[in-house]
Amino acid sequence: MNIETGLLQPGQARCPAESTQEIIARDARPAPAWAASESYEYLGSQDITKDRYTEASFAHAEFEKLWTRTWQVACREDQIAEVGDYQVYDIGPYSFVVVRSDDDEIKAHFNACLHRGTKLKPSASEGFALNIKCPFHGWTWNLDGSLKEVPEKWDFSHFTSGKTCLPEAKVARLGGFVWINMDPDSPSLEDYLGEEALAHLKAWKLEDRYIYLHVQKSYPANWKLTMEAFMEAYHVGDTHPQVAPANGDVNSQYDIYGDHVDRFISTLGVVSPKLAGKYSEQDIIENFTMGDSSAMGGGKPQLKEGERARQVMADMFRGMFEKATNTDLSAFSDTELLDTYSYTFFPNLFLFPGISLPMIYRFRPDARDHRRTIYEVMFMRPKPLTGPVPENASVEVLADHQSFAEAKGMDPGFGHILDQDTDNLYAQQEGLEASAKPGITLGDYQEIRVRHFEQAVDKYIAMDAKLPDWTRLQRG
Ligand code: FES
Ligand SMILES: [Fe+2]
Repeated sequence: MNIETGLLQPGQARCPAESTQEIIARDARPAPAWAASESYEYLGSQDITKDRYTEASFAHAEFEKLWTRTWQVACREDQIAEVGDYQVYDIGPYSFVVVRSDDDEIKAHFNACLHRGTKLKPSASEGFALNIKCPFHGWTWNLDGSLKEVPEKWDFSHFTSGKTCLPEAKVARLGGFVWINMDPDSPSLEDYLGEEALAHLKAWKLEDRYIYLHVQKSYPANWKLTMEAFMEAYHVGDTHPQVAPANGDVNSQYDIYGDHVDRFISTLGVVSPKLAGKYSEQDIIENFTMGDSSAMGGGKPQLKEGERARQVMADMFRGMFEKATNTDLSAFSDTELLDTYSYTFFPNLFLFPGISLPMIYRFRPDARDHRRTIYEVMFMRPKPLTGPVPENASVEVLADHQSFAEAKGMDPGFGHILDQDTDNLYAQQEGLEASAKPGITLGDYQEIRVRHFEQAVDKYIAMDAKLPDWTRLQRG
């Protein structure tokens, strides 16, 4: 039974080569249950309309319906470790001062003065403050959002006798992240993610990591199109041909969990099924590229008779990485160490919690241009066993013409991979606008994350607008 004969039922299509689970099952250090499991679901085969990528009105609807209702990562908890530390999280037209207001309390205040509306803290800024003071006339709030001072108060009794606190979004803490939601009626973050995805996130223990590299660049495409460039490994052979000799691409595994989370697992240290027979196990070693290659020192081992590249890389990487970064990886299975685990947390977060490619991606639409996306890449490392935890890296913003490989601390080979993805996005955004075809076509299996993601978008777009409601967000 195969796809050519037309005998498969919808959703049964799979790469005929060895599966991800079969590859993982041969590892010396066995995978935990949540890795050694599958959760694919067939969600239909219809085309996805292109207006969602090309129309400014669609982006406008998203700002009124989707971004105002969903849980989003605003920053890392460690980035606001001390009382008074703050980070500004901007999402489209909205902006929040996310501040540690007490030892165990974090607030997300709408970043706008209640006098004449001035932004209280500049967009994309971070810092430390004893209170939140407007630069225009000096109205000032305490860190918890209660009013501290109105200069010439005698002129504003009509204000001070009413609601004076800064409105705030809901805040949750999970995985070392600070999440916010503008909707007072939203489900809890736990319910939003669902039991199974929550268990995965907790198992990765991302609160035990820190960010050692943070790079941002503006991409010339709609935010959904940009995200979708990273949701499948189907493009690896043609877009990143240098990776295929050491990457199980078209036999990657795809899973979905509820409405808001999905993932793929793409194995490393094995050859692409498309190149089967063309590369030896030693060739796989020679072609191995890692996002966090700092520990490898450029050396590539020579395989002995009967050794498999994947296992040798796992064993070698484990030892060298532990030594180079003063960490303990004994609890990690080979697949967690080596493979690319990519999770989408709807709407705009990707987590790659594996150790060899340990990243966070965050995507934010440009408020003024539905064809532009602010894309951030953060690399994580486990916190060292002893000694101080390094500070989270500050963001390095790249100009449009710059290569990701120019970012300080970026593995040049990996920077080049990200550049290859950008080049496609120029062509894809413009191609969609030029196309006579009203939609895009998706593979039933390899592109299930794209379909799953767009179905969640559609779910929110079908709802009524829900703008931040002053009367409900204000504590009095
Ligand atoms: S606008 Fe903020 S104090 Fe006047
Ligand atoms: Fe890519």
